[in-house]
Amino acid sequence: MNKIVSKEHFSANVVKLEVEAPLIARSRKAGHFVIVKVGDKGERIPLTIAGADTEKGTITLVIQAVGGSSRKICELNEGDYITDVVGPLGQATHIEKVGTVVCAGGGVGVAPLLPIVAGNRVIVVLAARTKDLVILEEQMRQNSDEVIIMTDDGSYGTKGLVTNGVESVINRERVDLCVTIGPAIMMKFVSALTKKYEIPTVASLNTIMVDGTGMCGACRITVGGKTKFVCVDGPEFDAHQVDFDEMIMRLGAYKDIEKK
Ligand code: FAD
Ligand code: FES
Ligand code: MG
Repeated sequence: MNKIVSKEHFSANVVKLEVEAPLIARSRKAGHFVIVKVGDKGERIPLTIAGADTEKGTITLVIQAVGGSSRKICELNEGDYITDVVGPLGQATHIEKVGTVVCAGGGVGVAPLLPIVAGNRVIVVLAARTKDLVILEEQMRQNSDEVIIMTDDGSYGTKGLVTNGVESVINRERVDLCVTIGPAIMMKFVSALTKKYEIPTVASLNTIMVDGTGMCGACRITVGGKTKFVCVDGPEFDAHQVDFDEMIMRLGAYKDIEKK
């Protein structure tokens, strides 16, 4: 049982929780994640450790309510307990000083990436279907050199897809690295674009996970023709080597059950 010591709303569907987990706070490194469960029969879901305070013994989670289990966590309040928090899991990330890094994505995943790429010139391309779905804009502005917002319907920022935003930067200046995080289909197209321009690209993959320790196989993907498990080998991989079509197919495996 891990106590929630503070809760903040970033938007209607996105909350930041500070959770007591002293051992995880002490041993976690940038890029690690935890698997959490709410209720004895709750579903296990992976969440990135967005930050930690070793003195207070807490970790920070930023959660977007997208379905049943994430909604359940977002509904918890300060003083409530999360039934289980397991971690730190995954491989730590280290992105060196390479020059200019474009972080391309949608959703909450981009925010915890920014401290990882600090020290570089960081340009964030944030994409959403429409204005109301653009989240964490302020947090990203504070942690980057430039934020470019793209919306499908043009209701905010520039009308277009994430790839249009990334390509506009590539056409304007030298890009040394691209990091992409978001829906698999979005990462697939970002990866195809940067491959064309031969820009090294890292994708942070969000496969379905269950045990988080490399045993259940739920997070299996193919990278450069080899089988990998996102939970122990990732979540970051060379995007140009990832078989995104297979990943997208496997992500849909439980769609009907998730709906129910
Ligand atoms: P559902 O309606 O059940 O599913 C919605 C979609 O979420 C599914 O279509 C599927 O793509 C995905 N999903 C469902 N179950 C799982 C599962 N057990 N494991 C992984 N994905 C699943 N989200 C955040 O809001 N904040 C984070 O910091 C964050 N970090 C993540 C780090 C990693 C390494 C991974 C793999 C995912 C991360 N996610 C994060 C995504 C988050 O785990 C999913 O949004 C959540 O599991 C959805 O579950 P649900 O029951 O709410 O929604
Ligand atoms: Fe089970 Fe990765 S989540 S093997
Ligand atoms: Mg679910």
